[in-house]
Amino acid sequence: MSHAQRTTRRAFVGRIGQATGAGALASAFATVAAERLHAAVTRVAARPAADVASDEEFWLPVQQAWDTDRALLNLNNGGCSPSPRIALEAVFRRWRFANDVMYHHLMTVLDPRRESVRTQLADLFGADRETIALVRNASEALETVTLGIKLEPGDEVLLTTHDYPRMITCWRQREKRDGIVLKQVAMPCPLRDPADLVALFAAAITPRTRVLHCSHVHFTTGQIGPVKALCDLARSRGILSIVDGAHAFAHLDVRADQIGADFYGTSLHKWLSAPVGNGMLHVRKELIPSIWPLFAATDPASGDIRKFEECGTNPVPVMLAIGEAVQFHQLIGGARKQERLRFLRDSWARPLQAEPNVTIVPLLDPVHSCGIATLRIEGVDPSKLAEHLLKKHQIVVASIGIEDVKAIRVTPHLYTTLSEIGRFVDAVREVARSGLPG
Ligand SMILES: Cc1ncc(COP(=O)(O)O)c(C=O)c1O
Repeated sequence: MSHAQRTTRRAFVGRIGQATGAGALASAFATVAAERLHAAVTRVAARPAADVASDEEFWLPVQQAWDTDRALLNLNNGGCSPSPRIALEAVFRRWRFANDVMYHHLMTVLDPRRESVRTQLADLFGADRETIALVRNASEALETVTLGIKLEPGDEVLLTTHDYPRMITCWRQREKRDGIVLKQVAMPCPLRDPADLVALFAAAITPRTRVLHCSHVHFTTGQIGPVKALCDLARSRGILSIVDGAHAFAHLDVRADQIGADFYGTSLHKWLSAPVGNGMLHVRKELIPSIWPLFAATDPASGDIRKFEECGTNPVPVMLAIGEAVQFHQLIGGARKQERLRFLRDSWARPLQAEPNVTIVPLLDPVHSCGIATLRIEGVDPSKLAEHLLKKHQIVVASIGIEDVKAIRVTPHLYTTLSEIGRFVDAVREVARSGLPG
């Protein structure tokens, strides 16, 4: 174990102890749970991540790091994820402190600590901290860039039919306002070869193309996009690249240089499990001066990334708990988390794929997918299936109904147990074999 890892673990146990001010018993329990988690991490330290993915003894203390209501089985963590205890308690602790002398504690004492969160996120993403802006969600991150890039009438922007609707709406607003031209390439579904998508983008480029916008993991199906190849393509043609990483960050174990985007926007309340209302924008350093901030800044052409954080008084304790979420993520390890999410996906998708009338998208291999996939039963309306799962089995899934995707999207998280996945498999298999009840 490296010195850095030892330090992270010590800090983590220490913070768990403080995090639970609710009583000595709760505090003692949390400390024991944190120590168990550390012992588990130490035990698997030398093993490959893919091997640890199915080690239930290792994952038990990880599952117990969340206090979620197990009476309802939440398989829509892609919508947004609950936070582990350490991050949730950190919000309450700092909120109570802020509440004592609200403005002074909030803005004078706590707000400057956002700089340590910036550093933690930069380390996690493998980026310069001066390229990381703390925003409220992926929408704010991406709309900052979409509305802030200088474009002329007739300039073209490329994206796919499977990009997030709000991001498309934002580009459409620029179309109406500034006369730019939006071009959507038809996303192959399922994508059989990532090179096919790159070829579609390449074929759509014209001398007026200025921006290529793509999803790192598509919200529609969980399809992993070939973002590195797309960003390389854009750069080779002098086009700016924007990557929507809402579903990829802290899900896939990738760092900024493995993506190569000019702009990367993500939510942190999905796969990082930070408290709801957190996002991150990464802007290539030399491009910062060229982007207008969404909320006016004193010097809009400044090269200081903080110009994208001018949203007014905001819930600082929620933002600072990104720090605890990053710490938790790093303790588990990005590679181990990625492999476990893929293993959980396989645990439901592979047995259900064996049913003759069930279709799973995307392809279940590491190039195409990780923790997210969709399922369709021939002849069964996906929204009715989602309703049935909730009403009859107390299982929550997302129903997707856009473009050519009519399916349920299934997203377990690290706190999901194998027996819960088994419950889901049994419930869906029953419908696949016998249809929805009356
Ligand atoms: C691909 C993608 N982009 C952007 C967003 C917007 O995220 P948020 O609502 O956190 O801003 C989502 C939300 O699900 C998404 O799936």
